[in-house]
Amino acid sequence: MYNSKIVGVGRYVPKRVVTNFDLEKMMDTSDTWIRERTGIVERHFADVENGETTSFMGAEAAKQALKMAGMQAGDIDFIVFATLSPEYFFPGSGCAIQVHLGIPGIGALDIRNQCTGFIYALSTADQFIKTGMYKNILVVGAEVQSTGIDLSTAGRDVAVLFGDGAGAVVLTATEEKDKGVIASRLHADGNFMDSLAVENPGSGTRPFVNKEMIDNRSIYPKMNGRYVFKHAVTRFPEVILETLAAAGHSLNEVDLVIPHQANERITEAVQMRLELPREKVFRNIHKYGNTTAASIPIALSEAVEQGLVKDGSLVCFAAFGSGFTWGASLVRW
Ligand code: UT7
Repeated sequence: MYNSKIVGVGRYVPKRVVTNFDLEKMMDTSDTWIRERTGIVERHFADVENGETTSFMGAEAAKQALKMAGMQAGDIDFIVFATLSPEYFFPGSGCAIQVHLGIPGIGALDIRNQCTGFIYALSTADQFIKTGMYKNILVVGAEVQSTGIDLSTAGRDVAVLFGDGAGAVVLTATEEKDKGVIASRLHADGNFMDSLAVENPGSGTRPFVNKEMIDNRSIYPKMNGRYVFKHAVTRFPEVILETLAAAGHSLNEVDLVIPHQANERITEAVQMRLELPREKVFRNIHKYGNTTAASIPIALSEAVEQGLVKDGSLVCFAAFGSGFTWGASLVRW
């Protein structure tokens, strides 16, 4: 059995910054409301009209990760791409990224697990490496949320939370013990699927898409915010402790927790419940908002750059989101 070691990490965010004050001009909201309830100050919106798509951003993040790994795109054996916002309904962004990276022919898998997408993607890639099927896997989390949210007052509860961006890691097989992904735990409960969802377009209606869907705004995400919040603050600590127990490690051995950046208040509550010092829980939501599957690899890339993750560090990733889905991975750097 091999272990999957992260040997490269990269990120890409669009140039266009959208501040809370910019949102004030689009809808009835305020910088104060957004900051106090979420900790978000600004986010980035992609220029999709000029090609800044989900797979393009993923590829830019991947190029950085490959550079750090000292690899060429051609060294990659398999792609796992996590996103809820692929540029096409099908095929997935895992196929599309091959064109940007010039690596057709290798297997590509899209993961649709929303905010928990990166944890599912990392764990899936880890299984392929553990069994010896692949040696080098590119794992990407990338999102264009800005084209799919309702930027009018009717959609303000959701719209102010999300941003665009991408993060990527390169995993490689190692025979070193206690290195790389040590344990992952994945969960989902579809009983809660309507608590945070985009209902249309989908295959459950005929025709697939119609004007009524646009008029009744069912093409936009709907969320029971308080309910999601309540579940998130319970599930995050629970799955972090479950994953640590599975790996035979304790919380005080962890050097850094990198939670999915959903809301500063959720992160704060998780930190308090776990009784962790503030500096052990990474935050960057103020700059990017919630970038869903991209948030953990973007955060990891910054944490590495800031020297918070270095050789030997024990790092725990955790996420919760639509599905509901939740999960965690423990990684020895
Ligand atoms: O990864 C999972 C992704 N989702 C999440 O993590 C979301 C989890 N939930 C949350 O973060 C919070 O529930 C929110 C930040 C979304 C909302 O905060 P809240 O404290 O639960 O506010 P609320 O929904 O109870 O709304 C309070 C008030 C309402 O007005 P009234 O009824 O009190 O008059 C809303 O209409 O705030 C109003 N409101 C807004 N006001 C200004 C809702 N959205 C906005 C807005 N700007 N953007």
